[in-house]
Amino acid sequence: MSKWDHLWINARLATMREGTTAYGAIENAAFADSGGRIVFAGPMRNLPGKPDALATRVVEANKQWITPGLIDCHTHLVFAGNRAPEFEQRLKGVSYEAISKAGGGIMSTVRATRAADDDTLFKQAQARLTALLGQGVTTIEIKSGYGLDLETELRLLRVARRLGEASAMRVTTTYLGLHALPPEYANKRVAYVAEMSGPVLRAVAAEGLADAVDAFCEGIAFTVDETAQFFSAATALGLKVKLHADQLSDTNGAALAAKFGALSADHLEYTDASGVAAMAKAGTIAVLLPGAFFVLRETRKPPVEAFRRAKVPIAIATDCNPGTSPNVSLHTTMAMACTLFGLTPEEALAGVTRNAARALGLSAETGTLEVGKAADYAVWPIDHPAELSYWIGGNISPSAIACSAALAAANQEVP
Ligand code: NIG
Ligand code: FE
Repeated sequence: MSKWDHLWINARLATMREGTTAYGAIENAAFADSGGRIVFAGPMRNLPGKPDALATRVVEANKQWITPGLIDCHTHLVFAGNRAPEFEQRLKGVSYEAISKAGGGIMSTVRATRAADDDTLFKQAQARLTALLGQGVTTIEIKSGYGLDLETELRLLRVARRLGEASAMRVTTTYLGLHALPPEYANKRVAYVAEMSGPVLRAVAAEGLADAVDAFCEGIAFTVDETAQFFSAATALGLKVKLHADQLSDTNGAALAAKFGALSADHLEYTDASGVAAMAKAGTIAVLLPGAFFVLRETRKPPVEAFRRAKVPIAIATDCNPGTSPNVSLHTTMAMACTLFGLTPEEALAGVTRNAARALGLSAETGTLEVGKAADYAVWPIDHPAELSYWIGGNISPSAIACSAALAAANQEVP
């Protein structure tokens, strides 16, 4: 037998496997990877030999916790500028919808993004990505949606792909063609939806630039029928769908997502019982975004208890974007999911590991510590996994992190 690459001994594992102990925890554990795959995750006593004989590199974990690499499954990471002035306006009482209707909101970021060159977009997004990596995030989803024309949507997706190639993280990309109606299409909604569902979608697919598509189904954005047209075209090309659904009002977005077998429906503050039931039946993951809820000072919470009862898996994500969630902390997001939405710290950790992987269609590859999956993991100097949801403000970081998909391994061994 050839030797394993790394073997961690005297560790504690939060495997996040379903239906086992809390956190899928294993005390007095060992964990090993080889060739970018997990080859051992279990009790020390089950190791098939002496550590030095088993692995090239043996690392003493000193009872640190090893978790799956964290997954941020909903971000709008690539954009230019910021919307701090809108933040001030909203604090004075102007609503997000009113700002959007007056040509601000998403369109203000679209203007800044169209005017920025690729390198600027890349560098600004890379800084945000690096912040997330430093918190143990090994997989991130990045949406387009601040271009809203052929050229800029393709540019944003190419920048996102480049971020994946250049970083120690796995990046998945989502074409968010229906995010807002740009002013050049005012009074030409039909033509805009046709353009994004036709030529732009085909160009995105031809270049292999997106793993999924997304839309903003909302009173201030796109209707259920427009979204359905976009989704039909996307699924015909073999692309998976995701949806910004029922964030500010109940438009039956969750049910629409389920009808198209969506990987996930996201936000969901206004989703009703029929939407929850449809998601359960379709196996659509509920992605909750407490950062946007917090920033918009919403009071209507997503139906967490109904998701639990219906066994709809719950994921959580930063929704990093310049308007409603200028948030580059997945840990703070976990803390908010607990305090604002009532998730347990274990549910929050499942929401950024096992269930986030499902929301990206990656559960065979990552999201739990299981033999055969990719060696995506983080090692934490903490006493209990609840600490990952408990500390607020970026003061918690892993002592080591590995992502098998990364070109450059970011492994810093514990001294
Ligand atoms: O997920 N809801 C739509 N999209 C973003 C907000 C985008 C923006 O305001 O720039 C969201 O919250
Ligand atoms: Fe979003």
